[in-house]
Amino acid sequence: MAQPVMVGATSGAATPGGYKKIVYVICAVAALGGLLFGLDQGFIANSLATIEAHYHFGVEGGEHYSAILATGGIVGALLSGLFARFLGRKKSLLFAGFIFTAASAISATLPPFATLSVCRFALGFAVGVASFVVPLYLAETAPAAIRGSMGTLFQLMITIGIFLIALTNVFIAREFVNPSTSLPLMFLTITLFAALMFFGGFMLPESPRWLMLKGRKEKAVAVLQRTMNTQQEIDNEIEEIEQALHGPQGAGIGIVFRGYFFKVLLVGVLLQMFQQLVGINMMIYYSPTIFGYAGMTGLLAAMTVPTVNMLFTFPAIHWVEKWGRKKLLYVGAVCMLITMIAAGVAFQTIGSATNPAMISGVAKAVLLASAVIYIFGFAVSWGPVAWLVCSEIFPLEGREVGMTITTMVNWTFAGLVMANALSFMKAHGNASIFYLFAGFCVLAIGFVALFVPETKGITLEEMEFNLKSGVPLRKLGQRPVRSTTVPEASAAHK
Ligand code: BGC
Repeated sequence: MAQPVMVGATSGAATPGGYKKIVYVICAVAALGGLLFGLDQGFIANSLATIEAHYHFGVEGGEHYSAILATGGIVGALLSGLFARFLGRKKSLLFAGFIFTAASAISATLPPFATLSVCRFALGFAVGVASFVVPLYLAETAPAAIRGSMGTLFQLMITIGIFLIALTNVFIAREFVNPSTSLPLMFLTITLFAALMFFGGFMLPESPRWLMLKGRKEKAVAVLQRTMNTQQEIDNEIEEIEQALHGPQGAGIGIVFRGYFFKVLLVGVLLQMFQQLVGINMMIYYSPTIFGYAGMTGLLAAMTVPTVNMLFTFPAIHWVEKWGRKKLLYVGAVCMLITMIAAGVAFQTIGSATNPAMISGVAKAVLLASAVIYIFGFAVSWGPVAWLVCSEIFPLEGREVGMTITTMVNWTFAGLVMANALSFMKAHGNASIFYLFAGFCVLAIGFVALFVPETKGITLEEMEFNLKSGVPLRKLGQRPVRSTTVPEASAAHK
């Protein structure tokens, strides 16, 4: 990774590694934002049985409690742009950190179920705010040389959070069989990381770009002196921000009615919809429950999905640049299609057998292998790529609107899956849901072939030029032959 060169000194010393200490604090607090996303998303898998034992609700109650996180996420994502703009990036992060801490600490007191549900909504709200503000803050505050890797770090931290909470919840549930002891400990694990994010947040500097936006140039320079090593870097950054502030500014919601924007919005919306409709959160939330239906329990059932998910997100970050987005989307969708059909067939052979001894070893092995390959397929493709493409396809002036809408779509479909997966299995048979998700994988493949552009190796400006020149969606990622000056948006309102 390129390190900034030391030319001339500004206040404060750089660390021997090349960055000042505050840069590491920025990265760590931002990483905690991603981790908390994962901790809350992954919480249910190995705690559902404990929550049910304490609060005495059935499948539907469990589904609703799980899905409320998504409802909070939709509202948080919707309002996060406003918070970031009016409160500032730092205060929005502190706000999210405070909600994470308060809602998980209150949950640890095992309040009445209605209050527990409000807390889960609040946690979702904080996740929605953090998932918008953290990448924005990093893009504006981290040194340019590490901004790219910071973006992928956020995604990686989500999967690490899912893994970590699955692991701690398994061990807590084993060590403390009484739910009124184990459940508070599970919530306190989240509280610990949330408090780190909240208190760490006070050490963060405000984003220099936001300060400039508010006309506070002196403060912006003071922040840059804390994060950057040389006067040259500071001058360049100030000049870049000033240019950006004179360029096209964030458009309002009206931009969705412009033809060229509507087209890419559709790509982003469908990508995020399919990211959820291939069934990932059924596996993340309910894999231990589903393995249980096939008579499989223990560490293998509890940890397979989160472990494979985390491990394969590491190479994905490299593969996405090497092979491109579309190839990975195809590979992932085909893996998920085959394994969903295999899991469906395995469940059909298991039928309604409830005695583990009656279930064949082959059916169990097929189920386990299907889960591993399915999660591999998702982790190397639709997991990171859906978010990445959504951050690339929108023209600058509509990026905020585009990303807010596509994030809300992601949460909406995540909520739908969480709220219905288990009862769908109960109503239509265990195999049914796997065939349904397989059907969505087929539609997702068709969608990628017809509409998704390959965005590897093209600059965002070139893609914007193509888009506004009326180039078909699928070919948006091809390098334009003409100059890369962006044509007037009005010329593209066809
Ligand atoms: C998805 C989440 C999912 C996670 C699993 C993310 O890309 O948006 O819904 O739980 O991946 O790793």
